[in-house]
Amino acid sequence: MEKSKLLTSLVVLILLLPYVNATLSGPKAKEQFVLVHRACHGAWSWYKIVALMQSSGHNVTAIDLGASGNNPKQVLEVRHLSDYFSPLMKFMASLPAHEKVVLVGHEIGGFGISKAIETFPEKILVAVFVTALMPGPTLNASTVYTKVPIFHNPNFSKEVII
Ligand SMILES: *[C@@H]1O[C@H](CO)[C@@H](O)[C@H](O)[C@H]1NC(C)=O
Ligand SMILES: *[C@@H]1O[C@H](CO)[C@@H](O)[C@H](O)[C@H]1NC(C)=O
Ligand SMILES: *[C@@H]1O[C@H](CO)[C@@H](O)[C@H](O)[C@H]1NC(C)=O
Repeated sequence: MEKSKLLTSLVVLILLLPYVNATLSGPKAKEQFVLVHRACHGAWSWYKIVALMQSSGHNVTAIDLGASGNNPKQVLEVRHLSDYFSPLMKFMASLPAHEKVVLVGHEIGGFGISKAIETFPEKILVAVFVTALMPGPTLNASTVYTKVPIFHNPNFSKEVII
């Protein structure tokens, strides 16, 4: 009887050990994550990972890019990359100066976070490219932004964005 009690106590102790250890070493640093979806998606595409990250205590913001998800912009109003990525750029601009975020970009979202890195380098802790576009060292996102207005033709944007 005593032996089985001891065994039970030992098992409980072993199971609890990781939590006790985590408590003793103090809480892990919580980061602020900014998630940028791929083309034709919205903030909704991150819903599973957002829930998991928030339950770990992180501050997670999933952005709806222009005319995506809950963003009120109409598709035909997105004529330039700057219209598409403006919700991300506005969010970055709104962050307090001392705040650093982890930027995550999926697919064309990688282009958006590249532009954000170039515009707000002091606000970036780290950037994560998830099978994403990443401009090279000889052609940065800012140059593409200003020189290649790919959605300039409203008829073209209708085909590309919908
Ligand atoms: C998360 O970050 C945003 C942007 O900095 C801030 O407005 C908000 O208060 C933060 N939320 C929490 C729970 O810390
Ligand atoms: C982007 O590249 C151009 C041309 O090389 C350069 O003049 C500019 O400073 C770069 N911009 C940033 C923000 O890195
Ligand atoms: C877009 O399409 C409309 C109607 O089809 C046409 O009148 C207009 O010239 C087109 N605009 C451009 C910039 O091609």
